[in-house]
Amino acid sequence: MAKAKGGQPLVCLTAYDAPRAALIDPHCDLILVGDSVGMVVHGLDSTVGVTMDMMIMHGQAVMRGSQSAFVVVDMPFGSYEASPQQAFENAARIMMETRCQAVKLESGVYAEETVRYLVDRSIPVLAHVGLRPQAINVDGGFKAKGRSDDERQRVIAEAKAAESAGAFGVVVEGVAEDLAAEITELLSIPTIGIGASASCDGQILVTEDMLGLFDWTPKFVRRYGNVKGEITAAVENYASDVRGRAFPGKAETYSLNSEKSLKIPRVDD
Ligand code: KIV
Repeated sequence: MAKAKGGQPLVCLTAYDAPRAALIDPHCDLILVGDSVGMVVHGLDSTVGVTMDMMIMHGQAVMRGSQSAFVVVDMPFGSYEASPQQAFENAARIMMETRCQAVKLESGVYAEETVRYLVDRSIPVLAHVGLRPQAINVDGGFKAKGRSDDERQRVIAEAKAAESAGAFGVVVEGVAEDLAAEITELLSIPTIGIGASASCDGQILVTEDMLGLFDWTPKFVRRYGNVKGEITAAVENYASDVRGRAFPGKAETYSLNSEKSLKIPRVDD
């Protein structure tokens, strides 16, 4: 993957199902089936409980909806850390069962050998450094990384290790702008930032965050929609129509007398 597409930053978003993948696909260079699905769709309080079966099911759905974007599926916690062999078995399963183009894994420096093992065996890998949500239980929660010099050097080492192991790109999450800029300058592979400033080669957000589905979003999210408001208003209207017997009306009702009325009206009819 080039550092920037025609000089422009890479546009990346998450998707977990076919209809949403179809909607975002024409506008994105890369779609990530993130393990954030555990929190966004399944109501978990972290990504730690996400399983291989969940990732494969959502990966298959996204692949059905996506036409042209490069689709990457996250490797869930516990599916790659034990050994390069364990990582290969699970990454190969994800690739074979979803037909996605690459996998992503949260790559501490320890994972260099694993990334190399996968890439050498024909599995493209997107690395993920900085704030690593699967590591919250040792890192003390969802906190930005690189505040101390030690931490800063660690994030730089993680990014360099990912590049030297053959990752085609690296997600940089939750770091201050100067650190993101330094990593982007140091690497020849693209950096894709989330909460990592405009100094990266691309940007990624959780789609539901930027669509405005939740009351709370992290500081780095810009809301481009008000999906929560739209869903709430639509459901309130529906509930009021059903209770007031205003729905269904004649237009939404089958009649045995008319051929035409057998057609169920759709929004675009
Ligand atoms: O799981 C996810 O959605 C991610 C992105 C936010 C980078 O890892």
